[in-house]
Amino acid sequence: MASQTESTPRGRFITLEGGEGAGKTTLARTLASRLAGRGLPVLRTREPGGAPGAELLRGLMLQGPVAWDPVAEALLMFAARREHLAKTILPALEAGIWVICDRFADSTLAYQCHGHGLPESVFQGLMGVALGEFRPDATLVLDLPPEQGMARALKRGAPDRFERLGAAFHARVHAAFRVIAEADPARCELLDATRPPAPLAEAAMAALVSRLAELPA
Ligand SMILES: Nc1ncnc2c1ncn2[C@@H]1O[C@H](COP(=O)(O)OP(=O)(O)OP(=O)(O)O)[C@@H](O)[C@H]1O
Ligand SMILES: [Mg+2]
Repeated sequence: MASQTESTPRGRFITLEGGEGAGKTTLARTLASRLAGRGLPVLRTREPGGAPGAELLRGLMLQGPVAWDPVAEALLMFAARREHLAKTILPALEAGIWVICDRFADSTLAYQCHGHGLPESVFQGLMGVALGEFRPDATLVLDLPPEQGMARALKRGAPDRFERLGAAFHARVHAAFRVIAEADPARCELLDATRPPAPLAEAAMAALVSRLAELPA
């Protein structure tokens, strides 16, 4: 007789990407409740972090006084990502849970490579080591001019290290997310994030329905 686990379809892995204050966390919450409302088991998680060891590394990366060497920072990012994958994401997917993740590898490509000049070959190498062939089933890229995102983020309080990197840096990151989305349209939907939360969530759901056959329209 098949066990519960053997008969449970694998969950799907959805990532939300975009610059500071683009609305990722807000949309993640809405999508989690929309999917749960359709009867799907959902886990919402975020990067860097999402597992105990990965949260420790997040503290080192975001709060430390250190200006990390770009390769050292990428190694920390992928160490955290591997831990997150092994301890949280894969067990959830195998249990049939749909995982919504606030930032994933595309953020490393945008911030570390396009933002800080980390060679893309280093990124690709680390991604191969940490993730193998694992990729998100669908990625929603929130497209918002960085000055609007910064204004939204600053309203929440003190800027963290990423938020103090300057306009030119954020312009590079913004452009990078567009390039990333356009390079892989089967996985990624570029969403106009200047819209209010409700129409943005509608467009996000439509993008998921078109990519994930298990999601009823
Ligand atoms: N579609 C939207 N329109 C207007 N304001 C929004 C929208 N989505 C989120 N906000 C507001 O903008 C601020 C930033 O949103 P949110 O925290 O969801 O962004 P984020 O992308 O997760 O930011 P960060 O990169 O800093 O984590 C919040 O105050 C939120 O209420
Ligand atoms: Mg957020």
